[in-house]
Amino acid sequence: MAIKLRKLSYGLGAEICDIDVAAPMSESAFGEVHRAFLDHGILLFRNQDITREQHLEFSRRFGELDRHDAFPSDRHPTIPELMLVTNEPQPDGTPSVSRYTGRRWHTDMSHTLEPSLGSLLRCWTIPGVGGDTMFANMSLAYDALSPGMQKLTAHLHGVHFSGGRKLDSTSADQAHAEEQMKISPPVAHPVVRVHPETGRKAIYLGEKVKRFDGMTENESKPLIEYLNRHATKPEFVYRHQWRENDIVLWDNRCTMHMALADFDQTQRRHMERTTVVGTPSGYVAAIA
Ligand code: SIN
Repeated sequence: MAIKLRKLSYGLGAEICDIDVAAPMSESAFGEVHRAFLDHGILLFRNQDITREQHLEFSRRFGELDRHDAFPSDRHPTIPELMLVTNEPQPDGTPSVSRYTGRRWHTDMSHTLEPSLGSLLRCWTIPGVGGDTMFANMSLAYDALSPGMQKLTAHLHGVHFSGGRKLDSTSADQAHAEEQMKISPPVAHPVVRVHPETGRKAIYLGEKVKRFDGMTENESKPLIEYLNRHATKPEFVYRHQWRENDIVLWDNRCTMHMALADFDQTQRRHMERTTVVGTPSGYVAAIA
């Protein structure tokens, strides 16, 4: 099979056209999809009117699936490999705990010792307008740094915190944040990681990073903010406008992403994500 690709932006991303991810796919056909994944950082599959089981099956081609033990209250009630990103109220009428998931630049599971390889987000329901997601190419951003900045960042470790999700002052939100901090103490990862499959270097930061290991927040903040701003310049990003039954796959080792609040919050936005487990990295950071 020769797959048909359409680039999504200068910085990253490609759509794989005319594909049914639920249909049987030979090893060589999957090899082409996998090559495109490594080349483009994110892949879009449109019109995938598939079941949850088919979503899991396709995702498993990329590796072992996370059971989301780091996010117990965000899981699908009966399928732990599916994480909900939804503003649909819970059965008892209380607001969904995942209604603000991903509203900052981040890569998935970076606050754990097994940060994710990749994620596959399936769109079930989208508001009339907006509810977009932004993606940034962190390899391109790394390559564009000056040699001096590449040298400066080479030995730094960023400390990633799980808390800090946007919150309302409801007690359920506060309890959720406290639960998350207990499950996942802050973890330090290199600021520059080498992609295990392509060998390319990429900046590994985002807004979950509050300081560099061994430095205070005040000392770290200017450089963290500079690098995040640099990495999210227009030439390194793609903004995805969702359609129902889109699946977007992204490589968490060389991209970061952010869900936008650019929609009428009374309208439904319901997404379901599988998360492919990555290689172990980092260490639990000492309290500053
Ligand atoms: C996520 O960060 O996994 C969710 C992104 C989104 O809902 O657009």
